[in-house]
Parts: sequence; structure tokens; C-alpha cells
Amino acid sequence: MSAKPLSPVDVCSHDVYEQGLPHEAFARLRREMPVAWHDEPGDNAGFWAVTRWADLVAVHRDHETFSSQVGGTELEELERDPEAREARRTMLETDPPEHTRLRRMVSRNFTRRSIDRWTDDAREIMARVLNEALHGANGAGAEVEFVSAVARGLPILMISRILGVPEGDTAGLFEWADRIIYHADPDYSEAVFDKEDTDPYRLLPFRSPASERVFAYAQQLADTKRRHPADDVVSLLVAADELSPQNFNTLFLLLVIAGNETTRHALNHGALALAERPDELARLRTDPDLLTAAVEEVLRYASPQIHFRRTAVADTEIAGVPVAAGDKVVTWYLSANYDEEVFPDPYTLDLGRDPNRHVTFGGGGPHFCLGSWLARLEVRVFLEELLGRNLHLEVCGEVTRVRSNFINGLKRLPLRLTPG
Ligand code: HEM
Repeated sequence: MSAKPLSPVDVCSHDVYEQGLPHEAFARLRREMPVAWHDEPGDNAGFWAVTRWADLVAVHRDHETFSSQVGGTELEELERDPEAREARRTMLETDPPEHTRLRRMVSRNFTRRSIDRWTDDAREIMARVLNEALHGANGAGAEVEFVSAVARGLPILMISRILGVPEGDTAGLFEWADRIIYHADPDYSEAVFDKEDTDPYRLLPFRSPASERVFAYAQQLADTKRRHPADDVVSLLVAADELSPQNFNTLFLLLVIAGNETTRHALNHGALALAERPDELARLRTDPDLLTAAVEEVLRYASPQIHFRRTAVADTEIAGVPVAAGDKVVTWYLSANYDEEVFPDPYTLDLGRDPNRHVTFGGGGPHFCLGSWLARLEVRVFLEELLGRNLHLEVCGEVTRVRSNFINGLKRLPLRLTPG
């Protein structure tokens, strides 16, 4: 261990992210120690922090050396608890060839072409959500808490329609999803991951008791779809009848969480960035041809997923640094998306940025985000609505952040929305 280059900064404390993004720490790591050994508190063994774009891409593309299955994709060391690892495993924590089989069950519903068919739905939902948020706005505009009033609605309602979750069930289901994914934030979590004894929940995703409620809901929905099949993903899975109840439950939970939590924060960070940079929004208004580039830039700038983890299964090296079989390797999307070697002036929102090879959805390889086209569609219709309504955005209160080193989340974003 002593020969390992020890990280000079802490990039995995949940508290750090509650205060703000540790961009300076990441920049220092990229510059001085792009593959740094990072000790962890408690019993965890520590990990290699991979912070440069090129190294993240190399790790993600080499799934034979860097396994998602051996220890899972979170910092929690599931290799020490094979029972929990198996109970919680989804396609995300499965290596090929089994991963390929699991992903194929749903992949055709999330291709670019399949998602294009949902464009009208996305526009209708976004318009409805914004109409509600702007209801009663006068000449001075409407003051809204953007996270709950706007950004939550679109991703939740879209993934619900695609899965076949009735609209009336969405609120409860997605409140549980928040409790699960924000497991280190006492404002959401029933068992705060790094502060309470979560061992009783070790077999549940994110060690969250709320996972059990999502599983119960998933089974109930499956029963309904068995009796009344429709044109949706849950009906498709039920008809295929290839998954055990446990695998069905964890896949449903993965889709509910992945399809909702990250995209919400892409919209939040996009709105915040545009409130801070009205000149960029004006630029987009005068040149709507920038829309596709703007979507990609919002996704880069937002970087909603902070990290994922792999485990080396053979002795290897990353950028010349020896990595031993069994070592944890953590790739930091939030850092790679701001790597000045790849993104000139990375901290500046540039809606015309081209090329923009962001790794918001992963660096390539088998686990590249299944929902990337859906997320792009949602960011796009949001920007379209901003342009169509000539909305002006202004921060009008304190912005607060989620306590999480995993999701780059905003908790509260008070914005004044003024239609032009
Ligand atoms: C801005 C929004 C989103 C972000 C930032 C995001 C990010 C990611 C990342 C970083 C990965 C892992 C990539 C890798 O390890 O190579 C991933 C995987 C995944 N995402 Fe997304 N995602 C977003 C939206 C969505 C949506 C809307 C869905 C809905 C279906 C979704 C479903 C998934 C699934 C199922 C996986 C696992 C794929 C696999 O293991 O094969 N994501 N996402």
C-alpha cells in the first residue's frame, strides 16, 4: 500500500458534495495524480480514483479487466458479501455475456428510434408541468422551487409511461426512489448509509428499506400486466417470463431510479446554468440550430452521475500506474467531463461546444447508459419550451444540494420564471 500514490484530496466524502462540487480537487488530481490511491473510512479497502477522461474511457471499454460484477458498481464492497451481491444484482452489476442477455430484454425500447416516438408525449408533459408551475404568474413572473415544481415531473412521467406505471401511482413510487438513491442524506433516507446501522437492509439495493416497497409495487404491477397486458415495458417483461421475481424486482427498481433521478438533475443544473448565463440562453434563442449541441453541453455541464466503480480482475495498469487484481477502481464522470485536455475552458457553459465528447452516459463499453436517448429527449423538450415561451430564469433564493457522492443532485432551486 505504501508504494501507492496517495490521493492528496478527499473526493468521496458525502459532506463535501453537500457543500459544492470539488472541482479544484479533481483538477489537482488530473494534473498531479490522475490515478491516485484513495483511502476510505471504516472497513473499506480504498480505491483507485481515475479522474482523466482518457483513463475513464479506457477502463469502461475494457470490461474483461475491469468487472462490474465482482464487487458491484458502488463503493460498498459487495465482494465481501456474495449473498447481498446476488440479491441486488441488475444488468449494471453483471458482466457479459450474462449482461448482454439481460440488457437485450429491454434495449429495443430505448433505442433512438423507439424514443423518438415519445417526442409528442414529452412535449405534452413538459408543457403541462410548466403551465402548472407558471399558473398565476403575473408580469413579475412566477417564483417556483424548480426541483419539485418542474424538474421532477418530466422524467418521472416519461419513464412511468414507458414502463406502464399508471400516472396515479407515480408520486408514491418516486418518493421511495428518492429515499433509496439519496441514502446518505437524512432529509430523504430512513437509514442514513454512513451514519446508521444499515446491516438489516444489506440484501436491499442501496441498503435502503424503501427498496422493499418498490419491490412490492413491482410485483403488484406485474400481476396487473399479466391480467391486462398493454404496450409497455413491464407487460413485455411479464410476457417474456424470463426473469425470476427477484431479477424482475431489481430491474424494475433500476429503471425507476435510473430513468428519473439523473435526468432530473440534468434539468436542474441546466436551468441553474442558464439562469447564471442569460447570454447563453439568448445565444440559443438567436441561433436555434445550436439546440443539439446545447443538449449535449447541458448534459456535460450537469454531469448528474458522479462516479461508478469497477474491480480489476487481473494485475494491470492504468496510465502506467500498476493496479492489482482485486483493487477497486472508481471512475469519476464529474472530473472526466471537465478534463481540460478534452474540453477547452471546461468550467464555462458553451452551448455551441463542438466537439463535445462528454462521458455523462459512460465512456463506452457494454454498460453505456441504456436511457441516453430518453434523457436527451427530455433535455431537448425542456430547452424547446424555454425558447418557445421566451422564458427568463433568475435565481431567487438559496440553492441547496443533496448529500451524496454518487448523484450530483440539487435539493432546492428557487427560480423566478418570467415568460417574455
Ligand atoms: C442525464 C440522465 C442520465 C445520466 C447522467 C445517466 C448516466 C448513466 C451512467 C453513467 C451509466 C453507467 C455507464 C457505464 O458504466 O458505462 C448509466 C447506465 C444506465 N442507465 Fe443511465 N443515465 C441517465 C438517464 C437514464 C435514463 C432516462 C434511463 C432510463 C431507462 C437510464 C437507464 C440506465 C440503465 C438501465 C443503465 C445500466 C446499463 C447497463 O448496465 O447496461 N439512464 N446511466
